[in-house]
Amino acid sequence: MTIRTILEFPNPVLRQKAKLITVFNEGLKELVKDMTETMYDAPGIGLAAPQIGECIQLIIVDVAKLEEEQEVMAMLNPRIIGHEGTQIDEEGCLSVIELTANVKRYKKVTVSFQDLEGEPREITAEDRFAVVLQHEIDHLHGILFIDHLSALKRTLYKKKVQKMLAEKKA
Ligand code: NI
Repeated sequence: MTIRTILEFPNPVLRQKAKLITVFNEGLKELVKDMTETMYDAPGIGLAAPQIGECIQLIIVDVAKLEEEQEVMAMLNPRIIGHEGTQIDEEGCLSVIELTANVKRYKKVTVSFQDLEGEPREITAEDRFAVVLQHEIDHLHGILFIDHLSALKRTLYKKKVQKMLAEKKA
């Protein structure tokens, strides 16, 4: 297992559309192990493969913290196939440093996905768990939570990042 580098905004890789997974092999299991270690090290409760530069449709979610169930759930090719209601909750992202903000999301989502063996599965999640799923699935489409904020807030954040990057270089 290896702790991988988490890409940060404005890295263009975070804006790519992730590829559908069609081969379910050992390499994927190794990648999930790396992602798990990387997520716990950060620490975070969800991670999408593109955040470590692997542009495939794979997310992991720390279900233990959300549902008191298993540990980490790997979801391949996840799709939101149903939703209900809305909620507003504070979000942050390991790829969007030094920012948290309220984001409007569905209250409840049903997601279809494949497990590491390629078996089709389905899950319905509510509240915080539903937020994490929507946030991570967004990453597979090149969408970050700042895209859900007002243009003004997004512009202010971009300026802040540019300033931080300039200070790093100086
Ligand atoms: Ni994120």
